[in-house]
Amino acid sequence: MSSSHVLGRGRTALVTGASRGIGPLIAREIANRGGHVVLTGRSSADLKAVTSKLAAGGADVSFIAADLTESGAAEMLAGAVDQQHGGIDLLVNNAGGDPLREFHAMTIEENLRTLQLNLIAPLALTHEVLDGMLRRGRGHIVNISAMAGRVSFPYTEVYAAAKDGLIGFTRVLRSDYHARGVSASVLILGAVRGAGQGQRMLDESSMKASAFMVPAESVARAVVKAVAKDRAELVIMPGPGRLLRAVMDYFPALGPAMNRAAGATTTMQKIIEQREAASDAAA
Ligand SMILES: NC(=O)c1ccc[n+]([C@@H]2O[C@H](COP(=O)([O-])OP(=O)(O)OC[C@H]3O[C@@H](n4cnc5c(N)ncnc54)[C@H](OP(=O)(O)O)[C@@H]3O)[C@@H](O)[C@H]2O)c1
Repeated sequence: MSSSHVLGRGRTALVTGASRGIGPLIAREIANRGGHVVLTGRSSADLKAVTSKLAAGGADVSFIAADLTESGAAEMLAGAVDQQHGGIDLLVNNAGGDPLREFHAMTIEENLRTLQLNLIAPLALTHEVLDGMLRRGRGHIVNISAMAGRVSFPYTEVYAAAKDGLIGFTRVLRSDYHARGVSASVLILGAVRGAGQGQRMLDESSMKASAFMVPAESVARAVVKAVAKDRAELVIMPGPGRLLRAVMDYFPALGPAMNRAAGATTTMQKIIEQREAASDAAA
């Protein structure tokens, strides 16, 4: 069954992490199909700037600021969209990120915040919107995951756990609710260039984008493709992404070896040191 009936006129999407990075591009791509898109993130100023820009381009958009690591945020967001727009047809759990510090150097509370943002918040939002979707007999949830766990990218222990958790969550969700009109897709992203955390890392380390990075616009287009074609899982990276992911699983030592060969560990250590120096200077 196609779930493209959640896109277009009369439909409402909620996109998290839409104040900066890849999120604004996802919001624009969905808005281009018609319907209303609600953007969310913590920064009201950034959300206001993004919604104004998208609206100037003809998109039907609005925003609600919320911190997804705070308790009650999912309930508040879903309730506000319900009240203003009569429910959410498409939920894109895009907000996420990683502090990129060594696991042992962060407190357990800091580590759990990463889990909250990248895994618990998507679960909580899905839980909030599911009843309404089932009542209306239509809905689609898109979760944004990452290759981090598969390639053992340095200093991403909790982020990798969360993003792998999101893949399992999406598979079972899709299987349980598909027959009742509610579908789910997960996008597993490799490194992204042009916007977002990958591009920021390049800018900080003065490294050049590699051929292995995908443009942020491709991620946005893939979100709409996953919904329109009702795809279970899309791996967004150059080349045969799903095959590469399977190879990484088959040879678990390959990812760390590639990271070492590419100098990822050394680069990440330098970025950590630069960030610590910058925060010490600001204090
Ligand atoms: N870029 C990449 O190379 C890459 C690779 C693999 C996977 N991904 C995944 O793609 C998604 C988007 O990443 P990105 O690169 O666009 O990241 P980004 O540039 O760091 O943007 C993150 C977004 O999440 C929001 N956010 C962060 N903390 C939040 C919180 N506590 N509550 C609510 N919103 C919060 C941010 O807005 P505020 O700061 O305003 O809250 C922002 O809109 C993430 O799930 C990321 O893990 C990205």
